[in-house]
Amino acid sequence: MPQWQALARHREELGEVHLRELFADDPRRGERYGVRVGDLYLDYSKHLVTDETLRLLRELAEAADVAGLRDAMFRGEKINVTEDRAVLHTALRAPRDAVIEVDGENVVPAVHAVLDRMSAFAEKVRAGEWTGHTGKRIRNVVNIGIGGSDLGPAMAFEALRPYTDRELDVRFVSNVDGADLYEALRDLDPAETLFIVASKTFTTIETITNALSAKDWLLKGLDAGEDAVARHFVALSTNTAAVAKFGIDTANMFEFWDWVGGRYSYDSAIGLSLMIAIGPDRFREMLDGFRTVDEHFRTAPFEENAPLLLGLLGIWYGSFFDAQSHAVLPYSHYLSRFPAYLQQLDMESNGKSVDRQGEPVSWQTGPVVWGTPGTNGQHAYYQLLHQGTKMIPADLIGFARPVDVLPPALAAQHDLLMANLFAQGQALAFGKTEEEVRAEGVAEEQVPHRTFRGNHPTTTILASELSPSVLGQLVALYEHKVFVQGAIWNIDSFDQWGVELGKVLAKRVEPALTEGAEVAGLDTSTAALVARYRALRGR
Ligand code: F6P
Repeated sequence: MPQWQALARHREELGEVHLRELFADDPRRGERYGVRVGDLYLDYSKHLVTDETLRLLRELAEAADVAGLRDAMFRGEKINVTEDRAVLHTALRAPRDAVIEVDGENVVPAVHAVLDRMSAFAEKVRAGEWTGHTGKRIRNVVNIGIGGSDLGPAMAFEALRPYTDRELDVRFVSNVDGADLYEALRDLDPAETLFIVASKTFTTIETITNALSAKDWLLKGLDAGEDAVARHFVALSTNTAAVAKFGIDTANMFEFWDWVGGRYSYDSAIGLSLMIAIGPDRFREMLDGFRTVDEHFRTAPFEENAPLLLGLLGIWYGSFFDAQSHAVLPYSHYLSRFPAYLQQLDMESNGKSVDRQGEPVSWQTGPVVWGTPGTNGQHAYYQLLHQGTKMIPADLIGFARPVDVLPPALAAQHDLLMANLFAQGQALAFGKTEEEVRAEGVAEEQVPHRTFRGNHPTTTILASELSPSVLGQLVALYEHKVFVQGAIWNIDSFDQWGVELGKVLAKRVEPALTEGAEVAGLDTSTAALVARYRALRGR
């Protein structure tokens, strides 16, 4: 595209420009390069961009018709081309009176019908009215799911812990490693435990295996028959037949639809564990937050469109600075699972190497997304961010207010937490020159070691507090960022064929481990590992 060529030329012209220069050239840069969406404020001044860069990036977005694809998504067109599906997570937070059609049918009434059923169920559990097989009230909720059926609710539960009912113990089990389920259940009373089996397809081997083991644990623990299952198991799925086959009463199934991708699903029925924890009203506040950003993404001009901007900045670094990864660094303990959640959202969506027409792409696609809460990272890998050889753009996420639950003495630590966020953004951008180091009287041979090159780009995302609405806003911001990048790269961000091969091979290898079965065509490395494994197991 000529717009791409223009960006490449512009990159050459910029050369080794330093953020120190960009700030020196424009005394208002810090205020000018900011954008507001809902309760979020994004500072993007510490990026290696000029007005010209931003203009050229927007032209790229226009040439790639990001707006056209965005509108097609919101209209319910089947933009997931390889699966011939609509992509309508935005319908999950549409108002009751909205009309969004898939194959000629308005999906909004069904969305709200499920939300209403979820709300009624959540209220019953929270009020102690939903009792187990023996009549005891439910005190423990265990969500069994993996990928999008785990990461979203688990992340949001952590994020909104201060809003949760502390009388309920909510746990998440995902790993097929039996240790995960064991540790989750070992101190629970089956009579007080509700399992939520979350699986869009209801065929995912990890989830079904764990759910069967949980059923076994329950029935043995209660010394009861299959009839106990109905009071202790509910399902979240699109697959009614498989839910019934598992033995869960489909009256206790909360459905969603094939136009909701797993990694875009925690605001659907998949969020039931979260809704039980925080209550339906808070859940709806979260949906309102999502909707605020949906509306912004749909209507804000490109100059002020926050998800568009984040998407374009990622492309700028990936393709024009060879950045391979992107760090997400929340300065909030409650957002500890947010980077893991974003890993699936971003990497399962945009880890692709053929375009929507099936042709190999000749440009970089999605980055490696990673991160942990910022202050902990400072004492671990920030060394590499500051003085390593890699360009790693980062998002620093922080909140003005500590959560209400903190006693004053702990709330007082919040300024120190945020001082760290601001300091890191500053240090990464501006570093410390040799002259500055020398001026401190540092011995000459030490100067190179103590110099910070700086020029590491960051976006700072600042909000007043981590409320349910703000969490929804943050997630929608990243969802749409990922969308923008996929649209420009012309890839299908909504399929995930790359996870299939491993699943098929695991099924083939398992009998070799358990029964020593011959696996046709096994490579010599894997065959030797299997033999060694069997020997170690004494088989
Ligand atoms: O294997 C990947 C994946 O399909 C994810 O996309 C999905 O979120 C996860 O597995 C779980 O799938 P399900 O909800 O169908 O169990």
